[in-house]
Amino acid sequence: SVGLPSDAPSYPFFAFDIVHESTDGSDACCGVLRTPHGDVETPNFVFCGTKASVKGLTPEQLREAGTQIVLSNTYHLLVWPGSELVEDMGGLQEFTGFRGPMLTDSGGYQIFSMGHGSVSSEIKGQRTLPDEMRSLIDISEEGATFRSYWDGSVKTLTPESSILVQKQLGADIILVLDECTPFNVEKSYTESSMRRSHRWGLRSLQEFSRLDCQQRQALYGIVQGGTCPSLRDESTHFVNTTPFFGSAIGGSLGADRATMHSVVALTAKSLRRDRPIHLLGIGGVRDIFHGVRHGIDTFDCVHPTRLGRHGGALVRRDFWDTDGSGGGSRSDKVKEHINLKKSPFKRDSRPIDASCGCYTCRNFSRAYLHHLLKAGEQLGGTLVSLHNVFFMNRLMRDIRSAIRSGTLDEERSKWVHPALDA
Ligand code: GUN
Ligand code: ZN
Repeated sequence: SVGLPSDAPSYPFFAFDIVHESTDGSDACCGVLRTPHGDVETPNFVFCGTKASVKGLTPEQLREAGTQIVLSNTYHLLVWPGSELVEDMGGLQEFTGFRGPMLTDSGGYQIFSMGHGSVSSEIKGQRTLPDEMRSLIDISEEGATFRSYWDGSVKTLTPESSILVQKQLGADIILVLDECTPFNVEKSYTESSMRRSHRWGLRSLQEFSRLDCQQRQALYGIVQGGTCPSLRDESTHFVNTTPFFGSAIGGSLGADRATMHSVVALTAKSLRRDRPIHLLGIGGVRDIFHGVRHGIDTFDCVHPTRLGRHGGALVRRDFWDTDGSGGGSRSDKVKEHINLKKSPFKRDSRPIDASCGCYTCRNFSRAYLHHLLKAGEQLGGTLVSLHNVFFMNRLMRDIRSAIRSGTLDEERSKWVHPALDA
């Protein structure tokens, strides 16, 4: 059986300092997450650079748009180009040129939930894809066995190998190996999967200590437990009482937004406040306001950059009040974004948002972006992603200052259109 490491790590090169606690009755707070590659002001947003690149953007563009931290995926980098190569090239920061705070996910989530056939259908005994196309082959106590999307070879990720790989990659913040349990499974599966994730968490921590990772890195535990309150309680208790540096909230958060919000609120409430709390894979504007109010410190999501590549530009409430009709979008349902590929933007000479301040909005019209996207020019995706990155960083900066001035509710009304709450 696995016990606590006898020499539990301390994290001499990291700190999480809370600098302001909300006075409006919510659990929102401002903090500073200190890492060997610099500070991250919280609440903040972590951009996804899955394969060691935030798609279409240079590190300089990211920085200039206000980015403080990015994420990469162990699973993808393990498959190609391999973690030893990244280590030999000086680690992720040197290799990518983003010389700031970085985070890596442990790899479990990608094996279990992405790409080639989902684990939920596996569990239900339905084979949705032929064997050679599924990535996950087996989950056992030892770890997860999967087929490489790169060359078809079979690989196993264990808690120990995930930590070794994340050490080689060299991100500041690293995560325990876990299983992201899908939402449509029996409670008994969620429960046994969660308990195994806890055992994997302890093995991850032991390996972290054994490899002396605390010299450069900090490890976060992950809360699982699906949508069941008693399982979430058990899992937050496990994470709270194990010497991790931070806490991440993972797993299924339910099938709809209301369930997700209640699971996040309940989980965050019982997590200890002296450690940073990261909400995995969530990044809608409403979800961020909700999470911040309940004490979430950092978020990550592919949404802003994935959306941008396909021509989706994030917009504030104003767009729909004053501007939406000009874009010809009056008949559109109010959303958190607009689709610049739509025909009303074809002859629209205005920027996405005249008040935005990003490089894209300072220099280019919706008509030009529409043209680039329709013509399949790479620049289109880059420019819209850049706007979205700037947008998210401005959102987080404005949220931080609203927390300090006790005006989070007013701030929200500038970003979220009332129709979105209806
Ligand atoms: N990203 C989104 N959800 C999860 C999760 O449950 N675990 C991990 N490791 N990453 C995630
Ligand atoms: Zn902009």
